[in-house]
Amino acid sequence: MLKSLFVFGVLAVLLIPAKCELISVCIEDDNDLRVDCRVEPKPNKINSYEFSWSSGTKESLINTNVSGSSAEAQFKDKSYVEELEPHGYRLILTGFTDKLPHNTTYLCKISGVVARVNMEKDQLATCSAVSVFLKSSCSWILCLLLFFYQTHS
Ligand SMILES: *[C@@H]1O[C@H](CO)[C@@H](O)[C@H](O)[C@H]1NC(C)=O
Ligand SMILES: *[C@@H]1O[C@H](CO)[C@@H](O)[C@H](O)[C@H]1NC(C)=O
Repeated sequence: MLKSLFVFGVLAVLLIPAKCELISVCIEDDNDLRVDCRVEPKPNKINSYEFSWSSGTKESLINTNVSGSSAEAQFKDKSYVEELEPHGYRLILTGFTDKLPHNTTYLCKISGVVARVNMEKDQLATCSAVSVFLKSSCSWILCLLLFFYQTHS
């Protein structure tokens, strides 16, 4: 009983934050910065995305398709955004991995809903290291946890 609770706890601690986070940041093999934003769009809102980071008091807009706002000049032609399944957007930023602000808050906004994560430069993992978690879906992990919980309690 204690042991299964322990397993359950460890799984929960390891897996839930890795996958269920609405925003995740990692470094790709070719040294690009990747930000995945899995905020679910509101059905009755205009679908739009906005990626930015802030360091200290300075916030920099990296990429957006909100009409009327535009990215900072330094990020022009350095980033692109692709759609994620089942929902969300992925930002790829080229050429900044060595110039990242040391302590950075990454933000994304989809249809007005903001997700943020604070990362220090040396906390950034390579994407291949976390892809095991990213491939499995959140609900799948919850099922697994429920399964553990039910069979062991
Ligand atoms: C932003 O891009 C997405 C995906 O390409 C699109 O569905 C959406 O309509 C765009 N929003 C605006 C405000 O252009
Ligand atoms: C990094 O920045 C966040 C938000 O500004 C702050 O709460 C945190 O204490 C900072 N961490 C370090 C190590 O400076």
